[in-house]
Amino acid sequence: MAHETLLVETRGRVGLITLNRPQALNALNRQLLDELRAVLAGFEADAGIGAVVLTGSEKAFAAGADIKEMQPYGFAEAVVEDLAAGWDEVAAFRKPMIAAVSGFALGGGCEVAMMCDFIIASETAKFGQPEITLGVIPGMGGTQRLTRAIGKSKAMDLILTGRMMDAAEAERSGLVARVVAPEKLLEEALAAAEKIAGFSLPSAIMAKEAVNRAYETVLSEGMRAERRLFHALFATEDQKEGMTAFIEKRKPAFRHR
Ligand code: CAA
Repeated sequence: MAHETLLVETRGRVGLITLNRPQALNALNRQLLDELRAVLAGFEADAGIGAVVLTGSEKAFAAGADIKEMQPYGFAEAVVEDLAAGWDEVAAFRKPMIAAVSGFALGGGCEVAMMCDFIIASETAKFGQPEITLGVIPGMGGTQRLTRAIGKSKAMDLILTGRMMDAAEAERSGLVARVVAPEKLLEEALAAAEKIAGFSLPSAIMAKEAVNRAYETVLSEGMRAERRLFHALFATEDQKEGMTAFIEKRKPAFRHR
């Protein structure tokens, strides 16, 4: 089946998904989410697939949720649609999934990389949660998963300042499992996935489930709180200003700073 926002192939027992919206640095819009969910559901049902690699382009794994799509939302629409909640299905994929990250992994892009079981990064990778620069906060798990991955102090630093960290800092912090040369990224991720896919699938699924038990305890409470706060920010003028300024390529003039 052809997809407009993804390239999908299988290499033996490994499913390879490439985010493919180059004109928007792979910004994560509704169509991409729908296509990704459908592809993952297919891979989950396919006994011939033992692991998945999720990657982007050399310039961007993904530069975040699609700001142009989100900009018009108000609080009511965000709550009723449960904006960003559809990504929980991606995080709930049951087979091992590796993120191969090159270039920008920002906002929702960093959050999707963290939904994968581990991250292999190219030396060019840049991670960050810049939502504060748009007048909002992370809404796809960033405040929860990043804090668990790298600890409170560094998570606060990234989320409150909106700064990016490079691959070396991300590896030092424990966000990234391995850093490799850009030309080796896909090869390394596919080799790791092939190795995993060569093991018993039930053990791989259970190993993943067991690690996630340790990792996710009380996560659901944090997620619920995060999502409502994320939604609430769509009631502010600063969200409109932050997102409009991004689209108009100017500095935002926030009222409430
Ligand atoms: N949403 C929509 N479009 C985006 C985008 C995004 N997140 N990121 C980049 N684009 C678009 C740009 O608007 C631009 O499109 P046009 O050519 O039509 O203007 C195109 O992609 C190329 O981007 P730039 O010209 O900005 O490329 P650059 O190399 O100068 O800068 C960048 C790269 C620093 C990553 C910059 O694009 C950027 O800051 N992007 C936004 C990052 C961001 O704020 N992400 C968080 C989104 S909010 C979120 O994710 C919420 C959540 O948790 C659910």
